[in-house]
Amino acid sequence: MPEKKEKFYLTTPIYYTNGLPHIGHTYTTVVADVIRRYKRMRGYDVVMTTGTDEHGVNVERAAKKAGIPESEFVAKMADAWRALWDELGIPADEFIRTTDLKHVRTVQWLFKLCKENGYVYKGHYTGQYCIYDNAFVNDAKPGDNCPDCGRPLETVTEENYFFKLSSFQKPLLDFYKKNPGFIQPETRRNEIISFVEGGLKDLSITRTTIRWGIPVPGEEPHVFYVWFDALTAYLSAVGGPEYEKRGYWPADLHLVGKDIIRFHAVYWPAFLMAAMLPIPKQVWAHGWFLMDAAKMSKSKGNVVLPRPIVNMLGMDALRYFLLRDVVFGQDGNFSYDALVTRYNSDLANGLGNLASRTAALIEKNFAAKIPKPAALKPQDEALARETQAAIGEVLENFDKLSFARALETIWTVIAAADKYLTSEQPWALGNSEAEQSRKATVLWTTAELLRIVTALSFPVLPDSAAKVWTLLGQSVALGKFELDGLRWGQLAPGTALGKSQTLFPRVDKTEAIERIESMANEELNPPKAAPAPAASAPATTGASAAAAAAPAVSDKIGIEDFAKVEMRVGQIKTAERIVGADKLLKLTVDIGTEIRQICAGIAQYYEPESLIGRKVAVVVNLAPRKLRGVESNGMIVAASVGPEGRPVLTGFHEEVEVGARLK
Ligand code: MSP
Repeated sequence: MPEKKEKFYLTTPIYYTNGLPHIGHTYTTVVADVIRRYKRMRGYDVVMTTGTDEHGVNVERAAKKAGIPESEFVAKMADAWRALWDELGIPADEFIRTTDLKHVRTVQWLFKLCKENGYVYKGHYTGQYCIYDNAFVNDAKPGDNCPDCGRPLETVTEENYFFKLSSFQKPLLDFYKKNPGFIQPETRRNEIISFVEGGLKDLSITRTTIRWGIPVPGEEPHVFYVWFDALTAYLSAVGGPEYEKRGYWPADLHLVGKDIIRFHAVYWPAFLMAAMLPIPKQVWAHGWFLMDAAKMSKSKGNVVLPRPIVNMLGMDALRYFLLRDVVFGQDGNFSYDALVTRYNSDLANGLGNLASRTAALIEKNFAAKIPKPAALKPQDEALARETQAAIGEVLENFDKLSFARALETIWTVIAAADKYLTSEQPWALGNSEAEQSRKATVLWTTAELLRIVTALSFPVLPDSAAKVWTLLGQSVALGKFELDGLRWGQLAPGTALGKSQTLFPRVDKTEAIERIESMANEELNPPKAAPAPAASAPATTGASAAAAAAPAVSDKIGIEDFAKVEMRVGQIKTAERIVGADKLLKLTVDIGTEIRQICAGIAQYYEPESLIGRKVAVVVNLAPRKLRGVESNGMIVAASVGPEGRPVLTGFHEEVEVGARLK
């Protein structure tokens, strides 16, 4: 009988349905997926849960605004979240919705257990409530703003069921002491311990002011408070009242953002203690990805979306960046510049280059078969030792969720391989027997190193690692490969190389960023009606976009379509370069009725000073968009000349009035 695998259950938060995923949410889900893949490669039977948190006032309001029933609204949003995770290659094993019947039953069951055990009573509550975060804010006064989101609090009084959280101060503190690994990282653990030591007030866990929620059986109009509802989703996803049958509860790991640690590390274990149910083994709070030093939010207009990045650089690049650039647990700044720099240096020039170089040399010199190493020199042995040592280090770091360290170790080995190839120069060796043997040793050593780093990087780079694995002629699917058995020396000579596939093509940084930003703009501000030709142009460079949008000859448009594009004579007032964007100029342009800021992709062809006072044709009714973080409100029309599309600005040979319409 096959040995029974140990189970490992991990969760992401379940996400609110009043918005769509940005890079912050993607981060948690990517981390969960990396852990899932890693644990599977360590022989665990893993289940990962994500889902949607669908109740509460926000949803009520959003559905009203959309003019549809709440149930329809949340169904659409849940579909969109699920579809995006599928598209990004990170689907959950269990996708739980808080409107699922099995979840509703689990919440009601948990409440019943807490009540039967004497931890629930009825009372009145008046407090300052943030309807955006669905939470009463302790110690807030009427008129205060929410300390988390800064929006005004509302005074709410209602009859509630209360949970005796105050009874759990000592049991929780004892639990933290007995289970020092329960809250991670250390700073959060200390924070929570001092919060609990400061005393716990009872918690209202039902609402009568909210309609859109799970009903408390026999107690309508009471519905469950969203956090009592939401936290229970982790349990509903793996069997609810029948959790023992499936065997995944208690969860091994709840991954959460630092903003919701208190709910997970205080309320949740207290609810479970009250119901006498097993308590999860660990809650890990990661930091935030910040944009311009602030937490991303749609209301601030500073969200970074995953899809445009993935379209431009691939999902593996995004995964790598999220895990490599920020120490897990701390906040990090998101920057497109850093993303593309990492992509080019670590992926295109690092792993991608090593794989293609190694394969090309083996193809050329050994008929695309892994050669047999001959006598080893000290430098071969040193590289072998370094790589073997890296295996242990990487696994240890993955176990500690120190992703940045694990990747750093892998990439140090990749750099060592590059150095080794450069000094051994297998391409310069001739065809004598001795030189052929040396070549074989050097290339086997490099290929073996490549095999090991590929296996180790699979949890983070599933698509690309699988490609390199195939290239190395390895037959066992990487996802099923057991990391415990990974050792230096296992690469069999004679193995035929597999198909080589493009890994990470190098990109021009400026162009890549412009394309990502332009796609993001389109996703955030989808055109309301059918777009006019110029408006649908990729606004990568203000100047060449008009040419790029030219319809095919057969696609004739009517005058009414042309009339949608409003073009006017504008006069350039100021022009300056944009730091970090080699191709863009920031212009201010007088269009007769106002002065507009417009970015144009002409910096390589026009000196800013030469443009001042120049009259140009401007598309004035394009939706504003941001290019490299700079708002561009319109487009300067230019001819696109020659194969490289050199922009040549339009001009007028007679005096024209600023603001005159072009027809
Ligand atoms: N619905 C609750 C969670 C209930 S779990 C039982 C919720 N949802 S959320 O959609 O607002 O946030 C989900 C997670 O995304 C949180 O862990 C939050 O920290 C994380 N992030 C949201 N923005 C983020 C960043 N900018 N960076 C990293 N993660 C952040 O809270």
